Parts: sequence; structure tokens; C-alpha cells
Amino acid sequence: MSVSAVCPGSFDPVTYGHVDVIERAAARFDRLVVACLHNRGKEPTFPLAERIALLEDVTGHLDNVEVADFEGLLVDFCRARGIELVVKGLRAVSDFEYELQMAQMNGRLGNVETLFMTTSPVYSFLSSSLVKEVARFGGDVADFVPPVVADRLRERLG
Ligand code: PNS
Repeated sequence: MSVSAVCPGSFDPVTYGHVDVIERAAARFDRLVVACLHNRGKEPTFPLAERIALLEDVTGHLDNVEVADFEGLLVDFCRARGIELVVKGLRAVSDFEYELQMAQMNGRLGNVETLFMTTSPVYSFLSSSLVKEVARFGGDVADFVPPVVADRLRERLG
């Protein structure tokens, strides 16, 4: 039986922490869809098309990974794609409470299970927001994001 999973997120922008979870999930499932949220209610730093292009760039070496965008409920995206597994990275206990709520809501709304993957300790402090703050103040983000993302951060945030 072929097992598909979805790895959802805002990816604004994708970091090495995301890439780590995507690579490890891709090694364990037959197909992994990285689903990038198109949230019309919130202005992201990077437009959807750019977030998708960056995700495609940094996952290009993974044959069983595809990148897609989604809007609305994750469970609807899963249903439309025939996916019943959601994979989320957990960095710390502080992530857990909200992630647990989302997992249980998604389980209630649709036939989806959420599997949590602990992030590698080297990336457990990373978030897109923090990386943007470092970039905004001219700090070096080379350890936190792939080079193509670092270039975009420099262009956009200075
Ligand atoms: O990278 P993020 O911002 O932590 O990702 C959050 C995301 C996109 C996974 C979450 O906001 C989401 O699934 N949004 C879609 C709307 C939805 O399904 N909400 C109900 C789940 S509780």
C-alpha cells in the first residue's frame, strides 16, 4: 500500500528546520505533499508564488515530494488529494499546545491523523519569524536558511 502524507505550513520563508522535517518525512512515506498556506487574511512577507518557488527549489532533490498551495481548511485539501496523514514538526513544548489543538480539530473535522516529528536539535530554535528579524537587522542567516532563501531575504529585507 502506498502511503501519502502532507506537510503543511506558511513557509514564510522556508528554513533549514522545515527542510529537515520534509527530508525526514519524505524518507518515510511514499509521497509527501508540502502544502503552502494561501491565507488571504494575513499579509505574508513573501507572496505565495515566491514561497512556492523557494519550496520547489529547496525540495528539488527529493523525487517523492511535490509542492502545492492550499486555501481554507487543511482537511479539505487532504480529502481532495486522498491524503489521511499530516506531518508536523515539533520544536519544543511551547509548540505542543497549539499543535495538539490543531491535530485534534483536524481529526474531528476530517479523517486525518497527525504525526509529530521532533525537529533535529540543531534547528529547534529556528522559526521563519526569527530568521526574518535577524535578516532585517543585517545579521547573517546562512546557518538558518538555504542560500537561495538567504538571497531573497537580503533582497526583501535588506
Ligand atoms: O507554518 P504555520 O503557520 O505554523 O502553519 C499553520 C498551518 C498552515 C498548518 C495551519 O494554520 C493550517 O492548517 N491552516 C489551514 C486552516 C485550517 O485548516 N484550520 C483548522 C485547523 S485547526
